[in-house]
Amino acid sequence: MHCPKCLLCLSALLTLLGLKVYIEWTSEAWLGKAYPGPPGTLPGPTPASPEPTLPANLSARLGQTVPLPSAYWNQQQWRLGALPSGDSSEAGDCRAWGNAAATEIPDFATYPEDLRRFVLSAACRSFPQWLPGSGSGQVASCTDTDAPYLLLAVKSEPGRFAERQAVRETWGGPAPGIRLLFLLGSPVGEGGPDLSSLVAWESRRHNDLLLWDFFDVPFNRTLKDLQLLAWLGRHCPGVNFVLLAQDDAFVRTHALLDHLQALPPSWARGLYLGEVFTEAKPLRKHGGPFYVPGSFYEGGYPAYASGGGYIIAGPLAPWLLRAAARVAPFPFDDVYTGLCVRALGLEPRAHKGFFTSWPADHTADPCTLQDLLLVRPLSPQDSIRLWKHLRDPQPQC
Ligand SMILES: *[C@@H]1O[C@H](CO)[C@@H](O)[C@H](O)[C@H]1NC(C)=O
Ligand SMILES: *[C@@H]1O[C@H](CO)[C@@H](O)[C@H](O)[C@H]1NC(C)=O
Repeated sequence: MHCPKCLLCLSALLTLLGLKVYIEWTSEAWLGKAYPGPPGTLPGPTPASPEPTLPANLSARLGQTVPLPSAYWNQQQWRLGALPSGDSSEAGDCRAWGNAAATEIPDFATYPEDLRRFVLSAACRSFPQWLPGSGSGQVASCTDTDAPYLLLAVKSEPGRFAERQAVRETWGGPAPGIRLLFLLGSPVGEGGPDLSSLVAWESRRHNDLLLWDFFDVPFNRTLKDLQLLAWLGRHCPGVNFVLLAQDDAFVRTHALLDHLQALPPSWARGLYLGEVFTEAKPLRKHGGPFYVPGSFYEGGYPAYASGGGYIIAGPLAPWLLRAAARVAPFPFDDVYTGLCVRALGLEPRAHKGFFTSWPADHTADPCTLQDLLLVRPLSPQDSIRLWKHLRDPQPQC
């Protein structure tokens, strides 16, 4: 060879090629390590995650185009600058919003009763905390030093004592970086037994109940989300991630922590992760589950994570609260969160480890849980049995 320059060029090229292969290999290995689940759970290479933003006009974000459907939600959303704020205890603006809806929706009288009640009070969103007597039972703030990495925020109902206790004894038990809180409405239901003294005892015993003074019914679940977001802002702004789950969920908490810790840091600000429904539409069977009348909402649902259990990034909490003031009320808490996330210009991320309608026959075999992070629904007994199985060293799968 009589071309030293060519040799130099060649070796430089080879070095570059080697470097490229190495970079690709390490980034793949890194993504692969993040979660050894089915392919496609972590789309890579990592796209730049958008930061949340809230434009003055949300119409384009929420897919609203003219001509606008005449459905009440769509009309309201088009005009909505902000929902009336104010305390529900004063029959203020928020009741006026609902009363106006009742007169403007032509077939309001045919709505199922829970939906009618929802619409009437939907704009009333600030409720006082329900405190179990004489200053006690106040849930402690996260101080700056021990802000949890992951807050487990579990939506329960006052009467579901066994479900809560099963969570405490299993996946919600004390662990470094973890904090458990239950979100509940008032223990004095409408026409139900008065559970105040039992819940007050439980609250003093465990200090993990966040209670608010509204009826604890499914269509009031969005209130729990909003009250939690407000509580986080005041008492736990440093939290990294929040799991919002139902009390019949079962979570492999350590696997979930591993997964979150392995996420690219750029995801951590806007993360909204779970079992994502992308093409869901309102169900129109009157009296059927999840019925939404055409006179209330037209169009498909935004992509949203199933309310059985999903993750949001801590820094997203104040943004969601701000978005909620500008997104018209919707009866289903998980669809509503999807709408708010879309208003912020973000998208949910799907993870196959979230399985919110887990077949009952799977509960008998802990091996089916191997690659999963969250499943539901499980009875308290099944949760405890599964937890024991998972603690056994080297379960044979
Ligand atoms: C909001 O944006 C839409 C287009 O996306 C536009 O048609 C509408 O007039 C805007 N509304 C206001 C109040 O500017
Ligand atoms: C939600 O709670 C409020 C306050 O207790 C109540 O006025 C409203 O009717 C409840 N919503 C439903 C759908 O029952």
